[in-house]
Amino acid sequence: MNLKKGYFITFEGIDGCGKTTQMELLADYLRDVKDVAVIETREPGAKGLGEKIRGLLLDYDGEVSPQCEMFLFLADRAQNIDMIVNPAVESRKIVLCDRHTDSTIAYQGYGRGLDIEELTTLNSLATRHRKPDLTIIFDVDVQTSLCRMGKEHDRIEAEGAEFLNSVRNGYLTIAKMEPDRVKVIDATRSIDEIHKDVVNLVEKLF
Ligand code: ADP
Ligand code: TYD
Repeated sequence: MNLKKGYFITFEGIDGCGKTTQMELLADYLRDVKDVAVIETREPGAKGLGEKIRGLLLDYDGEVSPQCEMFLFLADRAQNIDMIVNPAVESRKIVLCDRHTDSTIAYQGYGRGLDIEELTTLNSLATRHRKPDLTIIFDVDVQTSLCRMGKEHDRIEAEGAEFLNSVRNGYLTIAKMEPDRVKVIDATRSIDEIHKDVVNLVEKLF
């Protein structure tokens, strides 16, 4: 299939919601069935410098200032947008990104309590104002998230149920505020059922 333009699709939700599983399934579907060029990336931790920033953010076990954490996520995002996302979208590819700006609003804003308006301005700066064409939030309750995460937790996953619940409510608020861009999928169902919904949403874009 020949695309008239590139597309940027982001995958969001609380830890363990299943977004990485769904992103991989969609990438295979788009490549194998639709025959389109797909680039997969993630935040934090895009290929290259992003991987180093991801290590700083998730593995450090000392105290981290919320502001420092926020700027590291934003620095990682700027690198991902400039080096990976924008060049691929401009050459008419489909970019799938595991977490993006809404993670900062949900985790640093609704989770840690940083100012949401300021975060929105900083997100725009880091992305050079690019907005995803579609954002899918994989919604699960906190209990399901904790079960799917298993026993090994990184620094942010270790925050616990109350934090995750605020983050989840943050995501649902974002979806209400931007219904055209942001779609919520019930991700407590089977992997196959969720995949079908994802394909339907993405095909409406083309
Ligand atoms: P995330 O990227 O949101 O952290 P993953 O895709 O890595 O989530 O999934 C977390 C765990 O949950 C993995 O072990 C995965 O196999 C499992 N999982 C993903 N989707 C589902 C689902 N719909 N039902 C049950 N388990 C799932
Ligand atoms: P990730 O590895 O994608 O989490 P998971 O696969 O467990 O869902 O992301 C790492 C963590 O970083 C995750 O707990 C969410 C957090 N995060 C933020 O707090 N703010 C951000 O802006 C981003 C991109 C991620």
